[in-house]
Amino acid sequence: MELHILAGLRGRIEWHDTLGSTNDRARELAIQGVPNGFVVGTDAQTAGRGRKGSTWLSEPGNGLAMSIVVRPSWPLERWGWISLTAGLAVAETLTEWGLAPKIKWPNDVLIEGRKICGILIETVGTAAVIGIGINVNEREFPPDLNATSLGLETGEICSRESVLGEVWTRLLERLEGEPEVVAERAWELLAWRGEEVVMASGQQGRIRGFGENGELTIETEDKLVRIAEADGVRLRG
Ligand code: BTN
Repeated sequence: MELHILAGLRGRIEWHDTLGSTNDRARELAIQGVPNGFVVGTDAQTAGRGRKGSTWLSEPGNGLAMSIVVRPSWPLERWGWISLTAGLAVAETLTEWGLAPKIKWPNDVLIEGRKICGILIETVGTAAVIGIGINVNEREFPPDLNATSLGLETGEICSRESVLGEVWTRLLERLEGEPEVVAERAWELLAWRGEEVVMASGQQGRIRGFGENGELTIETEDKLVRIAEADGVRLRG
């Protein structure tokens, strides 16, 4: 991928033709002390990792697979907000292409229920590695994946480089602000906002907002419950 328009990234990006997992490489670099905002990206990822030990497949040359090392100034007990911040940065980027993305808590990004982006966050000492996989120019997905891409949604060939630059800029800006601002904006873009959901425990309730550290707050018949685990809720019915 050519990286000519990303002047702000000069000295803060490492691009590979092929790499196992950008998160693994970014973790190594985080330990070596790369600065805030350092990006590792690849045209082809051969061992992409998803949440809960799953695999992330991105089509060589068409998907965007990257990891960003961040060193937020937020106190550690507020780092739970990094997840929503990353989802928000991607969702806001996609609105620039005329789409209407939704954030499935904490950070999957969906277009009309179909997944367009997955995010895997790992903490490494005083840094966090934000791994972002965005479907950009893929034209086909196995039906069981329920996925879509920027290209499929817009009918155009989209520049992965522009997507990268926009997500990177928005992410770093949001991390410089306050989590409360992230909360407000992420709530506006949240999928299942106010909807009835079922928790892993079987309890039912309505999504009402976020907790102090970005947890999902659900109002049951008699109390407010906070969910901190991704995949901890499903839509009722
Ligand atoms: C998920 O939805 O389960 C998260 C998927 C995260 C995939 C990205 S692609 C770039 C980065 N490198 C990885 O190995 N995983 C993340």
